[in-house]
Amino acid sequence: MTEPHEVAVVPGDGVGREVVPAAQQVLEAVADGRNTLEFEFTDGEAGDAVKERTGTALPQGTRELVTGADATLFGATGETSVEVVIPLRRAIDAYANVRPARAYPGVDALQPETDLVFVRENTEGVYAGHEAELAPGVTTLTRVITAEASERIARFGFEYAAEHDYDVTVAHKANVMRETDGLFLESVERVAGEMGTECETALMDALATRLVRDPAEFGVVICPNLAGDVLSDLAAGLVGGLGLLASANVGPERALFEPVHGSAPDIAGEGIANPTAAILSGAHLLEYLGHEEAGVSVREAVAETLAEGPRTPDLGGEAGTEAVTTAIVERL
Ligand code: NAI
Ligand code: MG
Repeated sequence: MTEPHEVAVVPGDGVGREVVPAAQQVLEAVADGRNTLEFEFTDGEAGDAVKERTGTALPQGTRELVTGADATLFGATGETSVEVVIPLRRAIDAYANVRPARAYPGVDALQPETDLVFVRENTEGVYAGHEAELAPGVTTLTRVITAEASERIARFGFEYAAEHDYDVTVAHKANVMRETDGLFLESVERVAGEMGTECETALMDALATRLVRDPAEFGVVICPNLAGDVLSDLAAGLVGGLGLLASANVGPERALFEPVHGSAPDIAGEGIANPTAAILSGAHLLEYLGHEEAGVSVREAVAETLAEGPRTPDLGGEAGTEAVTTAIVERL
């Protein structure tokens, strides 16, 4: 008997409740076929709906579930996102946000050569939570950059790049934010020196233009928090939409996996959400837990399904979430 992996499942709101069960179904199918892999899934509530009912978007029980689990599969929350996702990432010290953006054969992409991975600093920058209203009509935000967090994300990014055979580009705006991004850049370059590795540095605004025109030029892009959030959504547009982009929030001991997209209230409840992003998040979860081969088999089943169909309407198809999920499970 193998020890089961304890996985917290937090679907959240909107399409999170449709795509997370799809991803869980895929993980269950993968485990069914392998006697070295077993899961124990436990559900937790979070988001707009639970806040409406109980007054809190992130119940203590859910927080404890996530901090106690080996890994978490998260969906999306709606308006309460800042009350849920950011505290959960913080609770497991998930300092690295990994967001691959890859084009797939069969999916209409603006840039079919795209194959890059954003490694985003996930704990500070302008998302550190230091905002204030000084007076009516006057607000401020404090941007936090520390050497420690910058070095930590750099190390993660360079190791990830070496493991997956990517070049590294570092996004920054140190010409304007001289103190904060100056420190970020200096820290990343110091780590590169220590690790004996090369990296290109690029101003993040110019980088945005280059990403659109020639994404194939890039591999791993190490970014400060806000830049990583914006640039990865930009890259989603290059490869065929948010329904495809998975992400991992990795801490020293635990990790939380989630689609990049939100609760998509415009299509929620219709059964047409693309489950790909959530299922690929599940593949990442498998790899994180040491089941590399199982993760790859999910990625292959997803790629085949994207190439041959069925596809959801966001990709020009007519199939629903369930039909796509079933097709992926059948190809496993
Ligand atoms: P969104 O990602 O929910 O939707 C943007 C567009 O992408 C919509 O047209 C939507 O239909 C489409 N889309 C998203 N996921 C899809 C999928 N799986 N299949 C097919 N189409 C998909 O972003 P939006 O509209 O800006 O935000 C909606 C809500 O989600 C807001 O309340 C926001 O706060 C929340 N949000 C939550 C996040 C999280 O929980 N991590 C992240 C981003 C937004
Ligand atoms: Mg975002």
